[in-house]
Amino acid sequence: MRRAIVRGTGHYLPERVVENSWFEDKLDTSDEWIRARTGIERRHFAAEDQRTSDLGILAAQAALADAGLDAGQIDAVIVATSTPDLTFPSVATMVQAGLGMRRGFAYDLQAVCAGFVYALANADAMIRAGLADRVLLIGAETFSRIMDWTDRGTCVLFGDGAGAVVLEAAEGQGTSADRGILATDLNSDGQYRDLLYVDGGVASTGTAGHLRMQGNLVFRHAVEKLADTAHRALDRAGLTPEQVDWLVPHQANLRIIEATAKRMRLPMEKVVLTVADHGNTSAASIPLALSVANAEGRFKPGDVLVAEAIGGGLAWGSVVLRW
Ligand code: UT7
Repeated sequence: MRRAIVRGTGHYLPERVVENSWFEDKLDTSDEWIRARTGIERRHFAAEDQRTSDLGILAAQAALADAGLDAGQIDAVIVATSTPDLTFPSVATMVQAGLGMRRGFAYDLQAVCAGFVYALANADAMIRAGLADRVLLIGAETFSRIMDWTDRGTCVLFGDGAGAVVLEAAEGQGTSADRGILATDLNSDGQYRDLLYVDGGVASTGTAGHLRMQGNLVFRHAVEKLADTAHRALDRAGLTPEQVDWLVPHQANLRIIEATAKRMRLPMEKVVLTVADHGNTSAASIPLALSVANAEGRFKPGDVLVAEAIGGGLAWGSVVLRW
């Protein structure tokens, strides 16, 4: 049975680091409130002339180097993003050009903060169906471009960055002992569109718009839905939560991550945390966390990882993979 295994990871964070204290003289907020309610301490913001594709290209180059591959050996590029450079062409084709890749195919995928989990499921399906042997997956975002800087309930939460993963086809036995993606679980419910959205767009206002969120309601859905989706994916993989070595969650809020780990009965030592340094980077948060933890040598061959995320839509899901 064909499996999609992780061959390499990489990431890029813009140089500019903004500490929580930066917001204190602009808004009625404090470092103390932001840390206590979210776990965020700082985030990176892209430079004015840096676009999402620039971040994506740098993360992709790092992932290709880690995989020991050239761009010419990649069959497909998927970029998960909600903050594209332009309405079209896709960021993925810009990344393709930036990498000097003249073959294969590239497209963007938009499932907001769940984008990278959706992209992993997409790439897994393509690899298992034989449509591609090697897929370069990127989560890249410049959420600083859609912040309302007068809204303390949102602008302190988000950051910019990009993470990338190279997936490659490998033969497995079709059992839960295989390496690679073992199971995925995707969900959405468009009834919740007003909980988290951007109030602009091509076919409505003709502007990019600003992010709007009813944070406490999203919080409640997250706590309820993330452990559920992880349990479903584990069931599908034929594994139990006790067999999980690492939870790699979407990095939106430390309290949501802790509540999910508790529901899954996982100790926090098994949870990869980057929220303090990155803030919420939407579709980039999981590949950033994967790449940072991989660079630190934390994952051992055979480890079971669960990645999960929820965001605008609402859209949510999870992926179980063996390193
Ligand atoms: O990535 C996509 C998914 N997104 C998420 O997962 C985000 C989910 N939501 C959250 O992380 C949390 O709901 C927030 C961090 C956004 C807010 O935390 P909360 O504990 O749910 O606070 P809240 O929205 O219930 O607000 C409590 C109070 C309010 O004041 P009043 O009405 O009680 O006087 C807010 O106005 O905290 C106030 N508040 C702030 N105070 C200081 C909201 N933002 C701030 C702030 N600084 N930055």
